[in-house]
Amino acid sequence: MPVRASTAIACANIAFIKYWGNRDESLRLPASGSISMNLAGLQTQTRVAFDESLHGDLLSINGQPVRGADLQRVSSILDEVRRMAGGVHYARVESQNNFPAGVGIASSAAAFAALALASSNAAGLALSEAQLSRLARRGSGSACRSIPGGFVEWRAGTGDEDSFGVSIAPPDHWALTDCILLISSAPKTTSSTEGHRLAATSPLQTSRLADAPRRLEICRSAILQRDFEALAEIVELDSNWMHAVMMTSRPPLFYWQEATLTAMREVSAARKAGLPVCYTVDAGPNIHVLCERSREDQVLALLAKLPSIQEVRLAHVGGPARTTDL
Ligand code: PMV
Repeated sequence: MPVRASTAIACANIAFIKYWGNRDESLRLPASGSISMNLAGLQTQTRVAFDESLHGDLLSINGQPVRGADLQRVSSILDEVRRMAGGVHYARVESQNNFPAGVGIASSAAAFAALALASSNAAGLALSEAQLSRLARRGSGSACRSIPGGFVEWRAGTGDEDSFGVSIAPPDHWALTDCILLISSAPKTTSSTEGHRLAATSPLQTSRLADAPRRLEICRSAILQRDFEALAEIVELDSNWMHAVMMTSRPPLFYWQEATLTAMREVSAARKAGLPVCYTVDAGPNIHVLCERSREDQVLALLAKLPSIQEVRLAHVGGPARTTDL
């Protein structure tokens, strides 16, 4: 067949218990497990067409041609698909994000989850959810959590075969909202791929990893019991601990801006005053403010008072990656 194509959509996710540091860099095997919530509506749609007339892989993101390291990262996933399918051709990959990329709101998670699904499907492979999650993981660790739906745990595993995301609760289990505060849409100066390499240089990473099973357990049961207070405490601790590792690595990484810290303080103060709300921050200055859906109006009123916020986007709990082929 001259052209074999498939299109897939996957959403971003926000980690409640974060992944920071690999024990195997090339396979992206994490130093510890992590837990996240898929973000409905913050999504990447990707079409992959294997085409025998091509002489190399082609990539466009939001209509702009992309070359260099970003194309290579995509090609390495396509190479894996070609290996599994036994020799398909080069591919044209067209990807569209409906949110800014490279600013710490998990665009690579949505992108590599959509790429894994579209490319394997176009190549005629019918991969299981676990196989898709493992494939997505090779592109971006957090992408393995955007394959299953709802609330997802990525178990660190013992190797490539058992390191993938599994849903611990479906999207309708708990009506949570992530209010994403865009403080800056400038691309981050240190990528998370580089940041993972630096994690082990921090004297705080050992204690962070040693405590990870406890935080994962608290987070998992808070989700299962819909216990917002327990979730809030552990999510903020986990985010602060990851940023403490970042700030104490060599060289140190500072992702927060003044407005990030101001928002963190205000959110914590509001919780102390009785509003069930908490924050978490990924590898960028933007802050994710979590609440139950029933509290959205109160939380939005709080956020409206904060300085230097460019935009607030709301995301509810998202479903699994899916193909859009008829
Ligand atoms: O998947 P990566 O390599 O972009 O790393 C994601 C790192 C964090 O977003 C900071 C944490 C996480 O678990 O998503």
